Amino acid sequence: MKYKRKITNDTYWIGADDRRLNLFENIFPLPYGVSYNSYVVIDEKTVLLDTADVSVREQFMENLDGTLEGRTIDYLIINHMEPDHAALIEELCELYPEMKLVGTAMTFTMMKQFFEIETGNRAVIVKEGDTLCTGKHTFSFIMAPMVHWPEVMVTYDNLTKILFSADAFGTFGALNGNLFSDDIDFEKELLNEARRYYANIVGKYGPQVQALLKKAVGLDIEMICPLHGPVWRKNIDYFINKYDLWSKYEPEEKGVVIAYASMYGHTASAVETLAVKLSENGISNIKIFDVSKTHMSYIISEIFRASTLVIASPTYNMGIYPPMEALIHDMKALNVQNRKVSIIENGSWAPAAAKGIKKILDEMANIDYIEPFITIKSSLKDDQIQNLDILTENIAKAVKL
Ligand code: FEO
Repeated sequence: MKYKRKITNDTYWIGADDRRLNLFENIFPLPYGVSYNSYVVIDEKTVLLDTADVSVREQFMENLDGTLEGRTIDYLIINHMEPDHAALIEELCELYPEMKLVGTAMTFTMMKQFFEIETGNRAVIVKEGDTLCTGKHTFSFIMAPMVHWPEVMVTYDNLTKILFSADAFGTFGALNGNLFSDDIDFEKELLNEARRYYANIVGKYGPQVQALLKKAVGLDIEMICPLHGPVWRKNIDYFINKYDLWSKYEPEEKGVVIAYASMYGHTASAVETLAVKLSENGISNIKIFDVSKTHMSYIISEIFRASTLVIASPTYNMGIYPPMEALIHDMKALNVQNRKVSIIENGSWAPAAAKGIKKILDEMANIDYIEPFITIKSSLKDDQIQNLDILTENIAKAVKL
């Protein structure tokens, strides 16, 4: 980028967008791309905060070069060692032989695992509350283990009151020229991708995110600079509140997500009927997903958003239909809790999906079941409509509670 991207005073964004990558972590679809953010602070000593993914190396190096304007890098602060941010550390060590590396003890353990870097006289190992003065700026280091990896820390600049937040407060989606969230209609354009990023990448670690949020309360934060997505300088509480809800596994909204699997359309037909009945019972916020069609990460994100979930699955190999089983295992792995859930199963001769689904859900915290569960034998019959009506009423009551 032939342009210095100033954030404030002497602090610059030198990130880069990747619009070609199909799958983040080789799992999660990126229909709108992803940004890898990195930041430079020009002080008496220069500071680089995190590097970038190897895929954007060329752009990153150009941005870095253009921002340093011939100066060296004195300190590389490494908030996170995952390769989407750390891939270029070794190359920078070769380019800047005097550059110090600042990170946690675990950062340096991982660095030796990923690279062949002799960190001896470069390593500045920091722990909670340690500071680094670079002239006008003093950086404080705040440990944030498991947000999203164990070595993670965040860095607070006491001069500019910027929190460099690592993966926290990140968002999927490349930046479209607008660096700041207040230059984007965030709720319309990016909230869904922010939630999908949070739920799938950091969602498992709610307690650790809560611990970080508690530390953040004690800071006077004027700006949040995450490693992905836009920078926050206005309405910061809005996004912190979202993180608070998500990390407490509390729903953002009252509403129903229906996740179904269907081999020949009969289970699909049953959930379509249920959705219409729910609508006629005054439920307005209903979303239906076919787990064989919609990538799991979108459904997980919607489950983080909504208060109520209906799972509908055929029986398969005497158990749960495989894509549905994967979704429920992912819910458990990501610690989903505090949800109201109902189950519909289908089975032509020995229905067993509901039992399997409930067994996994029983291992999750604070799952309240909405009954009756419905068992379809091949297709929904007229004599089951009464049961479906009772379920509809009970789901409607649960949503309105
Ligand atoms: Fe964006 Fe956990 O790395």
